[in-house]
Amino acid sequence: MTSSESANRHVVVLAAGRGTRMKSARPKVLHGLAGCSLIEHVLRAADALDAASTVLVVGHGGEAVRTALDGSRNGIRFVRQEPQLGTAHALLQAETALRGARGSAVVLSGDAPLIRSRTVANLVEAHEQAGAAATVLTAAVERPYGYGRIVRHDGRFDRVVEEADATEAERTIREVNGGVYAFAVEPLFAALRRIEAAGPKRERYLPAILQAYRAQGLDVGTVAADPVEISGINSQSQLAEAGRVMRQRKNEELMAAGVTIIDPATTYIDVDVEVGADTVIHPNVILEGRTRVGVRCDLHAGVRIADSTVGDGVTVLDHSLITRSTIADDATIGPFAHLRRGTTIGTHARVGNFVELKEASLGAGAKAGHLAYVGDAAVGDNANVGAGTITCNYDGRRKHRTTIEDDVFVGSGTQLVAPVTVGKGAYVGAGSVVTEDVPPRALAIARGRQVNKPGGSDKIRKKTGAGATDKE
Ligand code: UD1
Ligand code: CA
Repeated sequence: MTSSESANRHVVVLAAGRGTRMKSARPKVLHGLAGCSLIEHVLRAADALDAASTVLVVGHGGEAVRTALDGSRNGIRFVRQEPQLGTAHALLQAETALRGARGSAVVLSGDAPLIRSRTVANLVEAHEQAGAAATVLTAAVERPYGYGRIVRHDGRFDRVVEEADATEAERTIREVNGGVYAFAVEPLFAALRRIEAAGPKRERYLPAILQAYRAQGLDVGTVAADPVEISGINSQSQLAEAGRVMRQRKNEELMAAGVTIIDPATTYIDVDVEVGADTVIHPNVILEGRTRVGVRCDLHAGVRIADSTVGDGVTVLDHSLITRSTIADDATIGPFAHLRRGTTIGTHARVGNFVELKEASLGAGAKAGHLAYVGDAAVGDNANVGAGTITCNYDGRRKHRTTIEDDVFVGSGTQLVAPVTVGKGAYVGAGSVVTEDVPPRALAIARGRQVNKPGGSDKIRKKTGAGATDKE
């Protein structure tokens, strides 16, 4: 599309409805769906239009919506609809924001996040090509209950009749109003002002404008969409169903790009996640937020990765949790590893079972194989962190750092009382409590010496009267 076209396109999203059926304190359009809010999904669908202005009509919870979009969506103009007197009244609130605008206004619902950008673009193009006063998106649905039905005469659009106002015969119509429209801006607001309250709830229906246009002899077009795209979210159950659709789309997109997903039904990947080709995703994997996974990785069952970067050829074994971390190529993580925020894992490094890292780096080829806590620490290349090693980073008031330089070997069961540094190539004996820096290449042993007293165990048993000896 040319820039002059987009300069004449405007987007209005209606999102002032209360959403009472969600039974939630959160504004409906801020509920999450595959990593984005409902309203963000709708705005993304409109992004392809490159509209000159975007207006969001908010009501209940409007401040929360504004706050949620602050920063990421700066061009949006918010207008308040109070009280909420229906969809026509909602759109009318955008009049001031669109004063002087020409061209087309695309109207979307903030609670219908499954609409695709291609569909919105098709609608506007058809609308502009026909030079229509309004064009409405329709869909032939299996269960039309609740939707406005499209009434046609001789195949031509006549009007929309809402569920509550429909006759028995009209209720059998399966072609419904998708709630997405393109309007010529010029006659729009004057016509909206003339719409009167109707129906049992005395609302001002936006679709009534279509009938009014027809009566004036103006052209009203329709564009058909995939039924799933128009489905709105009114309840938690519909939110879950939309989540299923969104995830399926994401999985399909990744599989088309060469990712192996063993069981798409149990794979949960947020829309902004990137995964490279030949990565294999096992069942029950969850990839969230801004996560990027490279090529040729293996993500085994039950792994959850959020807002993290994973290089190429990485293996993450079963039931590992990784958040806000970076993993370099060919590393191996898990099973049952916990990488918390600020963790960096080097190439070919290995993190084994029941190892927790936080604000910690593990150098290339370094290993922490079993049962360790490495927090606020830098571990050098090819270092070995033995089983059961703990960085004692917290003194009850503040956090302190531990530095383990390249090629260090930390024996099992060591406690490193931070702040402390173990110099390059040093060796720490198992079971040490290290409270002082260890110079490079030194051997540190910081534990009580072992004393063996011959027959000592018999004496103790006699004294305490407890336990069996091997004589019994
Ligand atoms: C609407 C259409 C119906 C269509 C359906 C498609 C009307 C009267 N009916 O019905 O023909 O089949 O969408 O999903 O328009 N809103 C406001 N302010 C209001 C009322 C609603 O901003 O005063 C917003 C809602 O937040 C929602 C959108 O408008 O995002 C649609 O409103 P909703 O009440 O869901 O309309 P439906 O009954 O679904
Ligand atoms: Ca609705």
